[in-house]
Order: sequence, then C-alpha cells, then structure tokens
Amino acid sequence: MKMENKKIAIVADRLSGIEEYYFSQKLRQIDEMNKAGKQVINLGIGSPDLPPHPDVIKTLQQEAQKPNQHGYQNYKGSPVLRNAISKWYKKWYKVELNPESEILPLIGSKEGIMHVCMTYINPGDIVLIPNPGYPTYKSAAKIAGANVHVYTLKKENHWFPDFEELEKLDLKKVKLMFVNYPEMPTGQLPSKEMFLELIAFAKKHAILICHDNPYSFILNDKPMSLLGIEGAKDVVIELNSFSKSHNMAGWRIGMLCGAKERIEEVLRFKSNMDSGMFLPLQLAAAKALELDEEWYDSVNSVYKERRKKVFELLHLLNCSFDENQAGLFVWAEIPSEYKNGYELSDKVLSGANVFITPGGIFGNAGDKYLRVSLCATEEKISEAINRIKSAK
Ligand SMILES: Cc1ncc(COP(=O)(O)O)c(C=O)c1O
Repeated sequence: MKMENKKIAIVADRLSGIEEYYFSQKLRQIDEMNKAGKQVINLGIGSPDLPPHPDVIKTLQQEAQKPNQHGYQNYKGSPVLRNAISKWYKKWYKVELNPESEILPLIGSKEGIMHVCMTYINPGDIVLIPNPGYPTYKSAAKIAGANVHVYTLKKENHWFPDFEELEKLDLKKVKLMFVNYPEMPTGQLPSKEMFLELIAFAKKHAILICHDNPYSFILNDKPMSLLGIEGAKDVVIELNSFSKSHNMAGWRIGMLCGAKERIEEVLRFKSNMDSGMFLPLQLAAAKALELDEEWYDSVNSVYKERRKKVFELLHLLNCSFDENQAGLFVWAEIPSEYKNGYELSDKVLSGANVFITPGGIFGNAGDKYLRVSLCATEEKISEAINRIKSAK
C-alpha cells in the first residue's frame, strides 16, 4: 500500500543551501577528463603527496600486529597521544596544555569544525567566518543552524580581520568566530599584535574564537598558536592537524585544544557521534609528534623548491603574488583581463589540462585570485608549465 502525499527520503531543511563540496564535484569532472585520456595535472588540492616519516609507519605496523590493540578506545583519546600533543605544544608553541583535560584528539580537524558548531550554536546565533576562508566553516555553521556573517579579509590589511569594521556590527548575537592563521587560502602569517587584538575583541564581546591552525609548520619558521597569548584559554579553542605538518592527511587525525570546560563540552557532542580512534593510529601519531626539526626542515625544503616552480607558472599566467606566504599553496592575483579566477582556471583546465583552484570558492573576496597547490612534484609542475606554454 502506498501512503498518500508522503514522499520517501526528503532531505532535511538543514541541508538547504548546502551544496556538495566544490572539490568533490570538480574531481568528478577531472575523472571524466582523465577517462577521456587527458591526464589532467591537479594543482588544486592540498593533500600532501609525500609520505609520513618511516618511524611513524613502522609504529603503525608494529602496533597493528599486536592482538590486543583492536578494541574500542577511550572517547578522550589515548593518554599516550594526549601526552605527546601536550609536549609538542610546549616544545613548538610554548603553550602549556594539561594532557588529561585540555586536549581532545579528533578524526581530522575538519570533523572538529562540525563538532564545535554542533556544541555551541543554537538556531539564529551568529557565527563570524572569514572571506576568503576554508569553506567548511560556513557549511558547518549553517548545518548547525547559525546565521553566518562573513567578515572580509583584504590584502591591504594583511588579510587580517578588520576590527574597526567588526565593531560596527551588532555583536550581541555573535557566539562564535572562526579564525585561521597561517590563513588558507591567502597564506598570510599571523602577527602577535593581531592575535592580541583578536583576544581583546573576543573578551570585550564574549565571543568564542575557534582558531584553526593546520598550516603553522609549512613554509614557516615560527609556528604560533593563538593559545600562546596570555589569557587566551578564556576565549579560544584551537584546532590542529597531522594532515599537513606530518603528511598524514589520509590518516584522519587532528586535535582540539583549550580550557578543560570547552573540551568537556565538545566531548559531550563528539562522544555521541563516534568512538575513539584505532589505537595503533594514535600511537603512530604520537610518534610523529616526537620528530625533531630535521623532519620539518626536510618537508619544507621540498616545498620551497616546488614553490619556485609554482612562481614560474604564475608568472607565465601574468599573475602577481606575495612571495612570503606560508602553507601548502601559493595565492595569486589574476591579471585584469579575466573576469574572475573561475574564468582563468577553466581556461587553463580546458586548454592545458591543468587544474588550478579559482579563489572564488573561498568567498567572493577571492574572486580575483587563484590558489596553486604545492602538493605535486617538481616534475609535474614543470610539465604543467610546458603545457601552459604550448596552449598559449
Ligand atoms: C584551513 C583548513 N582547516 C582544516 C582543514 C582540514 O584538515 P584535516 O585534514 O585535519 O581535517 C583544511 C584542509 O584542507 C584546511 O585547509
């Protein structure tokens, strides 16, 4: 018997206005092109192509071989991993974190963004998100029922939040603000002065700051944590990740750090969503955090060489850019003859079979930009340069 007037699987209202992730769509198009023999060079995505340190893989292998490592794990994460995160934060960021209460391992920082939104947002609460910025902040906040208010970052203001502009808003309903330095996609490094201003702003208006910090070790000699600013724990939680700094994007492992109360609040949500991660993976991640300067230097020396090639590619496209950027990408302004980055990206994709991300996917403040990934070998980038030259 068929029910009258009732349809199966009507998608929930919370997904209205939420589209499939841009890259998930674009990768399908690239797949189709590859099936047609085009061998597209993908300079779009920031998924490190280099492997983790061999000791990390060895730890995973050795631990996975033990018969007693396969059960459900603690929701709070393994104490070994939490201790390693605490030591890592102390060593590199000079931040004290209690491994028992101020650290929560995550299945990647992307899931943390969703957990934070689900933990704090009531329908109608306002969330401040950066433009240009990582698209997940907006979608996660919307799914959680927030009114999203986008704050524009401008080149002339070092891609920092414009606090004067922010002060003009009605900030009473603003509950949460996402911030991310080194910024993706602009590659902008933070400054201590800006961090101090941010904390003062958050305290003045009782806004929780979620600082997303996955890029601080990439092409940057001075990793900074927002939690390193005095008094930050009152208003800041920080996400961090193994994806970029340790070449472990596919492992899905990250962390949330902050005051004990915040960690407990987020755990109230998260412990209802998933269970603790596979223990060998957590132990291997702990190993990764013990790596010394040589590891970060070796990763960065590869990115530095690739970046030179990417600069060459961008010159060929007549783009302009700041050479002092951190993170896995180069952010570059397109020449004025193009309407926007989509137009230039499409031209390069169809003419040269090279995919470069249009800056507009990070918000309209990125419309006149492109973002080129450093997660491709020098040979691939050289090949992309040759293809672009021949397509001209
Ligand atoms: C700014 C930013 N935050 C978070 C993430 C997600 O990282 P993870 O792999 O830890 O989920 C990314 C990934 O590209 C990112 O660019």
